[in-house]
Amino acid sequence: MVDISKLISEMTTEEKIGQLVQYNANLFIDSEAGITGPLTDAGLTPEDIGRIGSVLNFKNAEEVCKIQDMHLAADRNKIPMVFMMDVIHGYRTIFPIPLGLGCSFDTELVKECTRMASDEASAAGIQVTFTPMVDYVRDARWGRVMETCGEEPLLNGLMGAAQVEAFRGEGIEKPGNLATCVKHYAAYGGAEAGRDYNTVELSEHTLREFYLPAYKACIDAGVDMLMPSFNSLNGVPSVANNWLMNDILRDEWGFDGLVISDYNAIGELITHGVAADIKEAAEKAFNCGCHIEMCSSGYVKHLAELVDEGKVSAEKLDEAVYKVLELKARLGLFEDPYHGASPEAEAAHSLTPTNRAVAKKAAMESAVLLKNENILPFKKEVRKVALIGPFADNHEIIGFWSCQGKNEESVSVKEGVAALLPDAEIVVAKGCSNKWNELDASGIAEAVAAAEAADAVILCLGEPQNYSGEGNCRTDIDLPGIQNQLAEEVAKANSNTAAIIFTGRPLVLSKLNACIPAILNMWFPGTEGGSAAAALLFGDANPCGKLSMSFPKSVGQCPIYYNHTNTGRPKPNEDRHYGYNSNYIDCGNLPLFSFGHGLSYSNFVYEDMTLSSDSLTADGSLEVKITVLNDSAVEGKETVQLYMRDMVASNVRPVQQLIAFNKISLAPGERKTITFTIKEEMLRFWNNENKYVSEPGEFRLSTGCADHLIKTQSVILK
Ligand code: NOJ
Repeated sequence: MVDISKLISEMTTEEKIGQLVQYNANLFIDSEAGITGPLTDAGLTPEDIGRIGSVLNFKNAEEVCKIQDMHLAADRNKIPMVFMMDVIHGYRTIFPIPLGLGCSFDTELVKECTRMASDEASAAGIQVTFTPMVDYVRDARWGRVMETCGEEPLLNGLMGAAQVEAFRGEGIEKPGNLATCVKHYAAYGGAEAGRDYNTVELSEHTLREFYLPAYKACIDAGVDMLMPSFNSLNGVPSVANNWLMNDILRDEWGFDGLVISDYNAIGELITHGVAADIKEAAEKAFNCGCHIEMCSSGYVKHLAELVDEGKVSAEKLDEAVYKVLELKARLGLFEDPYHGASPEAEAAHSLTPTNRAVAKKAAMESAVLLKNENILPFKKEVRKVALIGPFADNHEIIGFWSCQGKNEESVSVKEGVAALLPDAEIVVAKGCSNKWNELDASGIAEAVAAAEAADAVILCLGEPQNYSGEGNCRTDIDLPGIQNQLAEEVAKANSNTAAIIFTGRPLVLSKLNACIPAILNMWFPGTEGGSAAAALLFGDANPCGKLSMSFPKSVGQCPIYYNHTNTGRPKPNEDRHYGYNSNYIDCGNLPLFSFGHGLSYSNFVYEDMTLSSDSLTADGSLEVKITVLNDSAVEGKETVQLYMRDMVASNVRPVQQLIAFNKISLAPGERKTITFTIKEEMLRFWNNENKYVSEPGEFRLSTGCADHLIKTQSVILK
């Protein structure tokens, strides 16, 4: 076992600082980088590079082993480098985007996918993943909504914690397991107008109530690292925000792990205008407790000087180095610097049939049947199927942040349907482009002809993969280009038409909804997207996803979310129980499809909701029993959701808040009663003094989903 304190006592200041710096792999293996490229741009010397302690953005196990070998041969201290990268929704086998996985409401499924991603990534050389990403979101214009589990703090936190546990497995020292880094702390998803990297202004109340809980859930689950966000929060960029980084993160939550900046975020303190130069930026970030600087050069160039000048304490420097070396030791890198990675292991673990099978299951469980007017499932006996639209014969459905996932390794809709229906005639017509600025309508006639001649029509629509993800924000979140026109004309030609949607965000589907009787949202479903879509469309699988984020009727409604508060003048008579807090004259106030919505081929009847008591004391508990019947001939799964509304409190409370859920499977005709236990702590909120409290009075408990409450009962908290 390495003696970290002794090692630190033998290191020079420059060597210590090297441990606090992370750069891209090309600096270490690209001989050009030192002469004309990024090395020179960053003002680094070959000696600086020799001391650097961690690497990101490498390709595979071969590259990792090569960099590690070169480094260990040159480093007099023999301290292995640590290799970090983003494993967001799979590594080589790609699972649905996190916003889709959120719709599964199934933490065990998320763990299963995460285990597989961890296995593949670890064999390929990754030792730490920049996951989970649990930014809370309300604005579908923001491209990074795809990386989160949506607009519900509880769900987001549970999914984040599930990832932390699954990546850790039996311990991060074991090959196959990864250390984790929760991000982006804090409130990156609150970017004004949904524009990436934009300013965030939030009250402390809203921050605590909605934005912070998921990060905290990951910390409670034992996440190893944390990444501050790019944005400024109430005027201060996160990496230099003492209130966030110390008052909340360390003093209040007790986080003791390693903190790494986001990519060049320390350098960007200059662009933000809160540091005059990179030296001041380094001082601010380091003194806020950011241990590792990713891809800017403040630490490597100025930290030693800052220590000499007394602006940074030498003890704090040693503490930061200790944390880095401790993580390396916990990963077992001093014993096995490759952490089990090798080209052979990588090949053996990648894209196995088992991984593909789980990817298919995950894609089926993440899909959400938004609408179905007796169209789906199509009969498998159909003779002629028309696949129409830009995603009909398209492998680009794995989504942004797909690591080593390859589009060409995914199953397209055409391939999925052909495999399921070997005897059917399948006709493909693209009809039009999925890009916003490609408006050529000349393919529509062929698509209409194909639709006319078919027994069943599947419109395969959506936005390209690179319309979501980092930096990819949109002001118009309708189906890009002329896809609505295509849909309208195809639907006129054949009424037996269903649409499937590929997307990284909730889209505005109002025009599509007006002309198409069935819509199945696939998100970006990953490697097995096409086979999952085929199974769902033809009834081999039953849709069970529930929306993790609301779909607006119009982009003008954004930000829109189910757990809003009322104003004093809510609009009373839309089909939601508790009114709404504004009143658009041209669109209404409800989303087109709300959080929690999702249909099934089964017919679930919520028969009964009973409480074990109509009152609750602070130290007591009560049981809510909900009985659900599957009144259909089709086996299916239902996520039973339990919402709460605090009727009167010292500040305004959301009209609904999800406090529990349970996904159950019901055979035809089967009836199940599920029990939720309610305790006082589930009824707490952040009051005006920023204390987490409950207040006595009436609480309404409801089941159903956010836009369709089915049963409601009151309980009095004494
Ligand atoms: C920038 C992104 O914001 C962050 O999520 C990611 O972890 C880093 N780049 C490293 O890839």
